Amino acid sequence: MKTLSGIQPSGQLHIGNYFGMMLPMIKTIDQGELYAFIVNLHAMTSVHNPKRLAQDTMNAAIDFMALGLDPERCIFWVQSDVPEVTELTWLLSTLTPMGLLERCHSFKDKVAKGIASSHGLFSYPVLMAADILLYQADRVPVGKDQKQHLEVARDIAIKFNNTFGDTFVLPEPVIDTNMATVPGLDGQKMSKSYGNTINIFQSAKELKKSVMAIQTDCTPVEEPKDPEKCNLFNIFKLFAPTERLAEVQNLYLNGGAAYGHIKMELVDLLWEFFREARERRELLAKDPGQVKTILAQGATKARAKASITLDLVRERVGLKY
Ligand code: ADP
Ligand code: TRP
Repeated sequence: MKTLSGIQPSGQLHIGNYFGMMLPMIKTIDQGELYAFIVNLHAMTSVHNPKRLAQDTMNAAIDFMALGLDPERCIFWVQSDVPEVTELTWLLSTLTPMGLLERCHSFKDKVAKGIASSHGLFSYPVLMAADILLYQADRVPVGKDQKQHLEVARDIAIKFNNTFGDTFVLPEPVIDTNMATVPGLDGQKMSKSYGNTINIFQSAKELKKSVMAIQTDCTPVEEPKDPEKCNLFNIFKLFAPTERLAEVQNLYLNGGAAYGHIKMELVDLLWEFFREARERRELLAKDPGQVKTILAQGATKARAKASITLDLVRERVGLKY
């Protein structure tokens, strides 16, 4: 069983990224091979500041390792260090129907949010399909918003297999239905592009500020409230121990839930929850040379796997003469 997933190095990691994608991925480390990478070529569809892209790439790598991704037990690399992926992207592009890409809501959403509409942004799902198919991944843990991209990857693989003979494994998305979408401070999906995130690696002061900004209604403390409809509760339940969660749920249902107190408690829970990761992060950040060596070793391993598939693909499509 091969599990693979990537994350864009475009800004600070938040708890939505952690529960939606990182945790499910890290959990698979004992179940076969794990492929994890930083998708800097995808990030170029929205970031054209070279210094920022380079810095964010390193930061994302450090974050991943700090959060528990052990590079000794998986293949961990930076996407652009395996150039085979761009060749495969082109080969897949030549049989990707326009209509398949035109239907992708992520492209439309990003353009609506002000990201410049480029060819790269439009063909983003083909690069993602190449990411997945190049390593013959069986399972891809992602948040719900990436489901359509996984369907595109499967459709492209099916089209290729039907045209040129069985070549690619058909990947399955792994979406934790309990955890499909972590809400943000305003109750919408938590996303860096909505500015409603609780970032994992921030100072105690910043953390407190973001938790205090979680939007709640004006129901008086003594009145009962529906916990499931409360944004604060929905974030609180990700971190609270089971017994404490039951107590707070009771307060919601029977009256007595004070938002201010719950927020203070959540600040402490969050701070503790990421304590070890924060400490590991500090150590890694002090030794960027070591991080680069780990990524280079990962890229060598990934390239060896990638070249097996690409070799086969070249032969299948007639590039070997
Ligand atoms: P953002 O929406 O903040 O830009 P990305 O698009 O970079 O985040 O997402 C990286 C990964 O984290 C993806 O697999 C995505 O599905 C997951 N993810 C992002 N936000 C959430 C969320 N609020 N809840 C669950 N998963 C999320
Ligand atoms: N598109 C994904 C996102 O925005 C990132 C990504 C790129 C990815 N290539 C991938 C995820 C391959 C899983 C597998 O989150």
